[in-house]
Amino acid sequence: MPYAKIIGSGGYLPPRVVSNDDLAADLATRQIQTSHSWIVERTGIHQRHLADPGVTTSQLATHAARAAMDMAGVTADDIDLIIVATSTPDFVFPSTACLVQAQLGAKGGAAFDVQAVCSGFVYALTTADAFIQAGRAKTALVIGAEVFSSILDWNDRSTCVLFGDGAGAVVLQASDEPGILAAQLNADGSQMKILCAAGNVAHGEVVGDPFLRMDGQAVFKLAVTSLTKSAQDVCEQAGMEVADVDWLVPHQANVRIINFLGRRLSVPDDKVIVTVDKHANTSAASVPLALDVALRDGRIKKGDTVLMQGVGGGFTWGSVLARM
Ligand code: ACO
Repeated sequence: MPYAKIIGSGGYLPPRVVSNDDLAADLATRQIQTSHSWIVERTGIHQRHLADPGVTTSQLATHAARAAMDMAGVTADDIDLIIVATSTPDFVFPSTACLVQAQLGAKGGAAFDVQAVCSGFVYALTTADAFIQAGRAKTALVIGAEVFSSILDWNDRSTCVLFGDGAGAVVLQASDEPGILAAQLNADGSQMKILCAAGNVAHGEVVGDPFLRMDGQAVFKLAVTSLTKSAQDVCEQAGMEVADVDWLVPHQANVRIINFLGRRLSVPDDKVIVTVDKHANTSAASVPLALDVALRDGRIKKGDTVLMQGVGGGFTWGSVLARM
């Protein structure tokens, strides 16, 4: 059975950078008070990239995919599977993955979306790994992409300061060398209310509440507990100790969650990739964006082991352990 190996990564952030001060000034025009110091102290976020109106998830995803394909040295003709993890698809259908396929000029392979919110990328990567191990695909594009700004209530200061837009991608290819070493996915649907955007369009009208709502403290507790156990379980599956993993690339929700997790797992700070300060929380895009930053700046090198972790609405969580 072949292994599935990450052979390239790419990221894309929309060019408009909004600092905490910019955001605070904008919210103040609507009598909503926030500050750089509140946001940094509670979340570690300094700025976020926001897509201009009209910019879509598939466009961000296609930029990131092209960068990953360039690094991998593959062309659109090589891609026989595209999976996009997103909670902000362009349309109800077709899937964002089909739109990306068309924008890349790829044809004929499978293309579909997965929806596991901020765990979406680890869900998509695990799915692509299973396709490759089963011999059903050879070269897969796995993308996390979001225009999360489109589902934020900009009058709710407790959520709108936390998120940003962006996309990250990897090319996963069948290989004789070990790549993905272990993976584990989880969900607990009974916790849906702590983090949801529980609206939809039916009969041409918005039904329910289309904006993201969150019980921040409940999310914090569940995120730390579930990710700690998931990290231990996935490493055990691979016959490793968490302490022996070279790099931790966790979902970038909040620097306090990341620090707490690192301490619980006894992973030193300099082995944890953090981008939440610059990107904010880009949901399904956060893990591949962080991975791409650390591959391109040379911290993560060929042969290193990388533990990627996602956690988010559903409630969902999961981990993928990979050798680069
Ligand atoms: N600016 C200023 N004040 C604010 C803001 C803001 N942006 N947002 C909330 N406040 C106020 C509240 O109104 C409240 O005021 P009050 O005491 O007068 O009532 C006060 O700050 C404290 O509010 P809390 O909600 O209790 O703040 P908390 O310390 O819990 O911090 C936070 C909120 C940062 C969301 C925290 O709960 C957290 O880190 N949660 C983790 C969840 C998370 O990061 N989610 C990201 C998305 S989920 C995911 O990706 C998995």
